[in-house]
Amino acid sequence: MKAETINHAVVVGVGTMGQGIVQVMAQVGIEVTVVDITREHAQKGVGVLQENLNRRVAQGKMTAHQAQAILQHVHVADGFPACGQAQVAIEAVVEDRNIKRDVFRQLDNVCPPDTVLLTNTSTLSPTDLASMTRRPQAVAGFHFMNPVPVMKLVEIVTGLDTAPETVTFARELARRLGKVPVVAREHPGGIVSRIMIAMRNEAIRIYAEGIASAQDIDQAMMLGGNWPMGPLALTDLVGVDIHLHNAESLSRDLGPCYMPPPLVKIMVRAGKLGRKTGEGFFKY
Ligand SMILES: NC(=O)c1ccc[n+]([C@@H]2O[C@H](COP(=O)([O-])OP(=O)(O)OC[C@H]3O[C@@H](n4cnc5c(N)ncnc54)[C@H](O)[C@@H]3O)[C@@H](O)[C@H]2O)c1
Repeated sequence: MKAETINHAVVVGVGTMGQGIVQVMAQVGIEVTVVDITREHAQKGVGVLQENLNRRVAQGKMTAHQAQAILQHVHVADGFPACGQAQVAIEAVVEDRNIKRDVFRQLDNVCPPDTVLLTNTSTLSPTDLASMTRRPQAVAGFHFMNPVPVMKLVEIVTGLDTAPETVTFARELARRLGKVPVVAREHPGGIVSRIMIAMRNEAIRIYAEGIASAQDIDQAMMLGGNWPMGPLALTDLVGVDIHLHNAESLSRDLGPCYMPPPLVKIMVRAGKLGRKTGEGFFKY
């Protein structure tokens, strides 16, 4: 299948990442069917996307006509049976192995046999998800960065059985969406998460040990490391809960050096999840 000819896609999970993925696909004219836990969840995710687009219009970064054109390509679905026309499916549900495995099983049941199934997972195994399907050759990781409409990179992660044609398709799809693809063989965390999660954990440790304030840690890395934003503000953007999931998952695969500091779990228990709840390491 040629990525340039794709005109129907499905995105499963319209949270932080799914909203951005829906936007970049609809922006190039692909009809996007959106599935979440329920129709109401999907509707809510699309509502947030609509607010994001309205904000861009208000800031003069997009015209109202462009925002409207994007939303016209977005279709909220009741559930998986609506995915029957999809030529490509991108899964962006929570970083939970069992939930993702179930999503892949369901996608495999409803999508045509040649539909390519991609996962936005940060730390889980595309091979494991592919094993839930009868088309492991057509499954790969397709890891966008946050915020999706802004960040240029897509990391394509090949599972054990991913076919070269699937990699070619994924590269072309990334380019069609205005992104730059890199390819990594499956290994826990790929390139970006393996490096970034270790660095974010270290920044949180410095904060939890009282060595420096959140402001100073971020300032140090922005001015001393040339980071565009500090590691703690980045954790707030990613979601403290998502960081916890991802770090725990990597620590199972790569060893205790990836264990998140206890403070991360305490912040999640307190609902301090970062930008999405108005408070994390910083207040919003
Ligand atoms: N947040 C980031 O910065 C970031 C960056 C790169 C990759 N990722 C990865 O993207 C994925 C999604 O992360 P997120 O930050 O968007 O999470 P999120 O919590 O913001 O959104 C997850 C969405 O999945 C939905 N969902 C949960 N169970 C579902 C199910 N059974 N069926 C359908 N939908 C279901 C939720 O309702 C929600 O809308 C994860 O795999 C994460 O590791 C996240």
